[in-house]
Amino acid sequence: MLEISRQSNLPISFPRYDTPPLLKRRQPRCPPYAPVSSIDQLLPYLDVVARRPYNQGLHACWDLQRGERIQLRVDNWHDPLVIEACKRILEKYGCKYEILQVDKGPVPEWVGADEVEYYLYRTKELAQWMDQWDVMSKEGKFDKLLWGYGGPVLVDTHMKIQRMPFITPEILASPAFLMPYELLEAVDLWTWRRIRSARRVRITDPEGTDVEYTNHDGYYDRNREFLNADLVHDTWTGNEGFGRTYLPGHVLGKPWIYLPGKEDGNGIIAGTTNHIAPVDWTQLLVDGSRIVEINAGGEFGEKLRKLKAETDHLSYPGFPGKGLFYWWEASIGTNPHIHRPRKAFPSGWINCLYERVRSGVIHIGFGTIISSMNERRAAKAGLPVGHWHLHLYFPTVRLERDGDDETIIEDGRLLALDDPDIRRLADKHGGADLWLQESWIPAVPGLNVAGDYWQHYAKDPLAWVKAELNICREWHHLFMPMVGGDARFCQDRYGVWGGGPGAHAIAAGKVPVALDPQHAHVAGGACCQSHA
Ligand SMILES: [Fe+2]
Repeated sequence: MLEISRQSNLPISFPRYDTPPLLKRRQPRCPPYAPVSSIDQLLPYLDVVARRPYNQGLHACWDLQRGERIQLRVDNWHDPLVIEACKRILEKYGCKYEILQVDKGPVPEWVGADEVEYYLYRTKELAQWMDQWDVMSKEGKFDKLLWGYGGPVLVDTHMKIQRMPFITPEILASPAFLMPYELLEAVDLWTWRRIRSARRVRITDPEGTDVEYTNHDGYYDRNREFLNADLVHDTWTGNEGFGRTYLPGHVLGKPWIYLPGKEDGNGIIAGTTNHIAPVDWTQLLVDGSRIVEINAGGEFGEKLRKLKAETDHLSYPGFPGKGLFYWWEASIGTNPHIHRPRKAFPSGWINCLYERVRSGVIHIGFGTIISSMNERRAAKAGLPVGHWHLHLYFPTVRLERDGDDETIIEDGRLLALDDPDIRRLADKHGGADLWLQESWIPAVPGLNVAGDYWQHYAKDPLAWVKAELNICREWHHLFMPMVGGDARFCQDRYGVWGGGPGAHAIAAGKVPVALDPQHAHVAGGACCQSHA
């Protein structure tokens, strides 16, 4: 356990390591950087997404049907090539579509501290979206909306709502969107089944997190199959079918309901990234699931402390006690191929929201429960609403059960990816080497890269990440050797990046063939291009 700071502005208890603890265990990986200049390079990914079965989760699953009436909502923060490719796929599948292009103004460049205002504003925007969806659902003009890439959606009895996470060609032309859905679903279920069965959950992370909570029976129904119907009804009124279970691609490491009188989350949460961008190292002390102290964090910490002081005396519907700053979320990403985009990071939609769904990455959330009815009630009562985050990239999650405790995430590796049944399933589609290896593991000095965690990273994480992504983008072949990464993952052996032959093969229902296994990635080589 870490030494606990009692000073609000001094980072006296940040992690110190003599040697980076993950240097050999979790080497950095960055995926190939494949240039994309044509729509044809993007179509295989959309083809796979178009055929994935519909669900309300965060995996893009468009399930396009001939004659279906679709509205695709995009804005000027999306790359036009991606929008054109989407149009082409909607035509290919015979949909009747409308593309609504919204002008969101100039694309902002972010710093992590922007998250505080962003979620105060965005929560209102989401509430407006939900009202708009209600109206559209009643009008009956569309069968399906493709819109946004976070947050819950409405009841989908009359109109389905699916995700549009494709902001740039770099994001879209990735094997994340070639993943066979049955494999993604198996990983989700493996994780969710285990969480539900735990008595206690403990989450640690080398950036300074050590937090735990009791996974009370009261959160669930009698069989621990779904979340408690009464609490779900109170929190998610009108959208109970959505609120009672996990969200595909976003497994609930902590139930997204508060259990008044029983909330006992306690310990320390610390990190250097939120949904928007890297931030100065931030530490939260948690007691009774309440954030009782916010330490360090630079400008982000300052803004959070101010908001906390302004809201600590307020009563929120459904909350365990007074105040806005309660810990409710520890959600787990499940797709191994999601990566941090290098081009134009962090700006507009190209921020850290996307990367939170990589397998084994946990995002901690505190505040009002996103788009729940209780959040909407609080907003209507004039209370400030929103929730804020810290990401964990190397978490270890231990589940305490009755005599058969289990680790389900180790140093950021979601252990579903090593499960024999899931590996067998991957074999059906081309093998575990192709599907169950993460494409991206961030390079963090002092953790999995040489250097001192504080001096070379945590006191200004954004500066490091920008430098790192710049080298990765402009001098790609130099990057992996520079950070001591495992060069195998920088190759595109299966041709699945940037519209390579493997991507086209998968879209055509075939299994891609691995290219020359002896092919070594060396500094000076140009082997990170897709093998066109
Ligand atoms: Fe979340």
